[in-house]
Amino acid sequence: MFPRVKGVTDNFFEMTYYSGIRKKIEGHLKRYNFFEIDIPMIEYVSLFERGLGYETDVVSKQMFIIQKKQHDSDNEKDLMCLRPEGTAGTMRAFLEQQEHLPEPCRVFSYGSMFRYERPQKGRLREFHQMNLETLGCSSVLYDAHMIKMLQVLFVEVLGIQDCILKINFLGQSEDRKKYCASLVSSLTPYQEKLCSLCQNRLTTNPLRILDCKSQDCQKICLIAPKLTTFFSETTQQEWKLLQETLEELSVTFMVDDHLVRGLDYYNKTVFEFVSANLGAQNTFCGGGRYDGLAQQLGSKTVVPALGCAIGMERLALILESSKDRLLVQSMPLLCIIPLSEQQNKLALHLADFLIAHGKCVELLLDHQKIKNKMKRASDLKAAYVLILGEDEQNNNTVTVKDMVTGKQEVILQTEVHTKI
Ligand code: HAM
Repeated sequence: MFPRVKGVTDNFFEMTYYSGIRKKIEGHLKRYNFFEIDIPMIEYVSLFERGLGYETDVVSKQMFIIQKKQHDSDNEKDLMCLRPEGTAGTMRAFLEQQEHLPEPCRVFSYGSMFRYERPQKGRLREFHQMNLETLGCSSVLYDAHMIKMLQVLFVEVLGIQDCILKINFLGQSEDRKKYCASLVSSLTPYQEKLCSLCQNRLTTNPLRILDCKSQDCQKICLIAPKLTTFFSETTQQEWKLLQETLEELSVTFMVDDHLVRGLDYYNKTVFEFVSANLGAQNTFCGGGRYDGLAQQLGSKTVVPALGCAIGMERLALILESSKDRLLVQSMPLLCIIPLSEQQNKLALHLADFLIAHGKCVELLLDHQKIKNKMKRASDLKAAYVLILGEDEQNNNTVTVKDMVTGKQEVILQTEVHTKI
């Protein structure tokens, strides 16, 4: 038997649940003018190196790089990888087709992402994200609109009561440059007390020290200067406007001035929705503004943009207790049982007829005793069993058994679709 690859899941029984959640999200997004796109699962490694930042954990440690077996006839020199996230790919695709696309361009896509992480509850190597982006939008009022849309989705549409929305403002890159210099000089005297990762970050990515999970690092960060004090006048005003607008829109949020997020493309707004029900991996949706990404990927024009991704496995864990409400209701199943091989072809014709009339049908064609076929029909959760024996074949009828009441009725084959 082949084992399953570590950190991935097989999904048989949860699919109606997952589809139910997706349907609710997609229905909500369409009311906000989002349309669905599909982008590739493989991209060049350089897209993420340039887009997300060389020093981010995702790029430096978690990439699934594709090793090709044969020499490349396309002469492609760039390495490819399985996408670890959807934003860089969405921006790449947008830039390719920009002249045909409206702005703001609101898109969503659903699919697998891949990160080489240590698997645990809520952390997989292949996981699914619902990725939302609004491209070509500059005002922070768009940020407030998206955040409000998400809060309505989580609290009102999906009924999550215990989620907390954290937000922060990272300013412009010039603000952050000045801030980082000050941060490094204030933390350097405590260098040895920082975790080994953060000791490294002092030179590579100092901002990430602020949201390190280690308690020692968190304690040391209490003495860190505040990023807001490095904001220009305009940035201060934008940050104020965002908070005021969120309040006006009745969004409940908390400001977390250590929230940085793990990807380097963010500027200005960053936010996360967390749930106490998730344990260590408690963020089920995260995002922010990324006005510099388009240029980072080679665009000559600025494409101010903003987005977020919902981690579907984590969302499913949170919604577990209200699962029944979210299951996609399947159609009642009609299971056709021919009593002998002589009725098999008739069974196929009857199946075609019923399917053409909008019914959901299963056939039990393999040779088996009727008792065993009835057991299989019950395992399949059939609502009705349609029995075809010699008598039925001769009289153009079918014996229909209601699997809930146990009642049996003989019905003309041409009328059966109107009766069940
Ligand atoms: P992210 O924070 O890296 O952001 O991921 C978004 C969400 O995906 C997380 O909050 C979490 O729910 C889920 N997630 C991440 N890693 C794993 C994992 N290993 N296993 C299970 N779930 C996971 C992004 O990916 C950005 N692209 C979001 C974004 C879109 N920002 C702007 N636009």
